[in-house]
Amino acid sequence: MNKRIIVAAVASALMAGASVAAEVEVLHWWTSGGEAKSVAELKKMLEAKGHKWKDFAVAGGGGDAAMTALKARVVSGNPPTAAQIKGPSIQEWAREGSLGDISDSAREWDKLLPKVVADAMKYKGKYVAAPVNVHRVNWLWINQDALNKAGGKAPANYDEFFALADKFKAQGLVAIAHGGQPWQDATVFESVVLGVGGAKFYNDALVKLDAKAIDSPTMLKSFDTLAKIKTYIDKDAAGRDWNLATAMVMNGKGGMQFMGDWAKGEFTAANKVAGKDYACVAAPGTANAYTFNIDSFAMFNVKAADAKKGQLDLATAIMSPEFQEVFNLNKGSIPVRPGVNKAKFDTCATKSMADFDSTAKSGGLEPSFAHGMAVPSATQGAIVDVIAKFMNSNMSSKDAVAALLKASKTK
Ligand code: GAL
Repeated sequence: MNKRIIVAAVASALMAGASVAAEVEVLHWWTSGGEAKSVAELKKMLEAKGHKWKDFAVAGGGGDAAMTALKARVVSGNPPTAAQIKGPSIQEWAREGSLGDISDSAREWDKLLPKVVADAMKYKGKYVAAPVNVHRVNWLWINQDALNKAGGKAPANYDEFFALADKFKAQGLVAIAHGGQPWQDATVFESVVLGVGGAKFYNDALVKLDAKAIDSPTMLKSFDTLAKIKTYIDKDAAGRDWNLATAMVMNGKGGMQFMGDWAKGEFTAANKVAGKDYACVAAPGTANAYTFNIDSFAMFNVKAADAKKGQLDLATAIMSPEFQEVFNLNKGSIPVRPGVNKAKFDTCATKSMADFDSTAKSGGLEPSFAHGMAVPSATQGAIVDVIAKFMNSNMSSKDAVAALLKASKTK
C-alpha cells in the first residue's frame, strides 16, 4: 500500500479515536483499603473503553470533605466529569442546573432498578446519575474470637448488647470500636433510633421529621441508649477514621463496631472471612429492618462530545452486571440491579440481599439518614451537628431532643 495512504489512514484512525476517548475526572471519597480496591474496578472498566481516568479522590469517610471540594470546584466553574453524589443531593445539584442527561445510556434502567432508586437517579424524568450498589447501614460487626469467648451469642437487643459489651471489657477489649467523627456518630445514632423505636418510628422521626416523633419518650430513650454506648468507647476515638475502628475489631483490640457494610470491604481486603474471623449481625433490635445507602455517580454538564461520550460509557459500565459483581464483592455492598452472578457473594451479602427483599415487601426498608438518603443536606447537617455535640459533651438526653427538634426545622 502507498505509504501516504497508510499515514493518512493511521492519522484518521487516531483522530477518530481521539474524538471519542475522553479524560474522565471522577470525584469520590473511596480511599480506604476496600474502597480503593472497589474504585479501581471502575477505573479499569472505563479504561477498557478507551478513556483516561483522572482521579479526584478526597479522603474522609462519609464524604463531607469530598462535598466541600466539589462545591469549590463547581463554584469556580470547573466541575469534574462525574462525582459521587447520592440521595436527595442529586436533586439539589440538578435543580441548580449542574447535571447532564445520561438517558442515552439508561434506556433499560426503568426495567432494571427498583422504582425508588430510579426516581432518585432522575431529574424531571431524565437520568442524571448512575447507581453502583446498595449498602446496608444497620449492621454490627463483631470479632468472632471475642464473641466465642463471651458465649457465642450475638446480641438481639440492647440488654444483650450491653451485657456483651461488659464481657468484652472484662476481656480487656475496647468494647465498642468507634471513630469520633460526626458522620460516624450519626451512623450509630440512626441504628439506635431504629433499634429502640422500630422502623415506623425511625421513618416518622428521621425521614418525615415529624415533630411528635422527635419530641417523644422514644427519642429520649434513644439518646439515653446512645449515652450508655458512649461509656464503652475508648478515649482515643476522637477523629479516628472508620476503617481504623474496623481494624480494631479485626485485630482483636475492639469487640464490635456499628457501621455500614463498607466495613465488610475492609474485612474482605484483609482476607478475613465472615463467620470465622468476624460476625455480621443486624444492629440490636433491627433484625426486621434495613437502612439502605445507595452510592451513585452524578454526571455534570459537559459540552465537549468526547466528555459526553466518556460519561455515557461510565454510566453504562456502572450498570453492567460484570461491574456490579466485581465492584460489590470488593465494596461489601450488594448489586442494585438484577441479573448479576451471585455465586461469589458471602453470607453477609446473601443476608443483605434476603433482608432487602423481605423488608421491601413487609415494611422496614428505610433510607439511611446519616448517609444522605433521607432528608435535604442542610437539614441533615443541622441534625448531625446535634448528635455530634451530644457525643462530645455532657448534654442531657432532654436537651438533645430539644436541639434535635430545632435542627429538624432547618431548611
Ligand atoms: C458512605 C458511602 C460508602 C462508604 C462510606 C465510608 O457515605 O456511601 O460507600 O464507603 O461512606 O467512606
